[in-house]
Amino acid sequence: MAPPSLVTALALCLATTALAAPETLPCGAASYLASEYVCYNNRTLCPIINSLPLSHCPPAGGCYAPQQFSCDAATGELRTLPVAAGDRAFTLTAWGTRTAYRGKEVNACGGYLAIGANARVCTGCPKGVEGVDCDKYGRQTVLRADGRMAVDVPGGQYWYIHPSDGALMYTDVLPPRTPAPVVVPGNGTAGIWPNATTTAVPEEEWVDERPQKQWSDRGGITTYENGFFVADGQPHYFKACLRTHAGGGVGTGRAWRIYATSNWVALDADCEPIKLVAAMVDAKMGAYEYH
Ligand SMILES: *[C@@H]1O[C@H](CO)[C@@H](O)[C@H](O)[C@H]1NC(C)=O
Ligand SMILES: *[C@@H]1O[C@H](CO)[C@@H](O)[C@H](O)[C@H]1NC(C)=O
Repeated sequence: MAPPSLVTALALCLATTALAAPETLPCGAASYLASEYVCYNNRTLCPIINSLPLSHCPPAGGCYAPQQFSCDAATGELRTLPVAAGDRAFTLTAWGTRTAYRGKEVNACGGYLAIGANARVCTGCPKGVEGVDCDKYGRQTVLRADGRMAVDVPGGQYWYIHPSDGALMYTDVLPPRTPAPVVVPGNGTAGIWPNATTTAVPEEEWVDERPQKQWSDRGGITTYENGFFVADGQPHYFKACLRTHAGGGVGTGRAWRIYATSNWVALDADCEPIKLVAAMVDAKMGAYEYH
């Protein structure tokens, strides 16, 4: 039997939990949950989607995602944000309901782009190589809009969506002067080149019986400047799926890998919708190479 004080404390705690109604706030004549909406000017409620509140564009623009549109406050006209040009460099930040990865940068390690406390960034730079100044590199995961990782290693590295399961991944260092489009594991093409082609995923590599979607069907990825990183023709969210050994060997712990939403594979176990937001940065914030 626990001491009475502990029982009392526990009972009080339970009672408090049971009685605590979610706190609502007023917005004009309405009331709302602060976890679900934002109120603008005591008049307009805009929803919060995947932890990102929509902005309000008065008078006519309504609610909008500032990661995709800009608002002309004088006219209420919405405009789509500019698409990042191919050589522009950016980091990615994940947004979703979990504090484990909300607002955290996407890291490259072991071929996967992953998020969460155990998602390490695995950078490398060879010491003592003529013409390589390792001190000038950062330790962030920096991508370029055309499909390259922002690295300086000869041959380069490329990010891609794996054609068989939609995983957001990146290649090893390629042999110098590898021509584009670069073929990646699964025989898809890395990144997004105009008219990029993919060959079919060989049948023995199919993960299950569901229809396989090819990366080339999907057009590519669009990166809005300081805005969403989205797979074309898909809803503007990815899935974060809790996986063991995210980017590394045994003992790395579990982290969240990122998958394009699709009907490629069932990704519902331990998966949640997230949004990826690009922040344009100087390419120097990236590494010499990722491994
Ligand atoms: C918000 O609007 C309501 C209803 O119109 C009004 O009663 C309230 O005073 C307003 N609150 C503020 C802070 O203006
Ligand atoms: C990739 O495609 C090429 C050419 O179609 C083929 O020869 C090769 O076996 C394929 N590789 C894999 C891993 O499927």
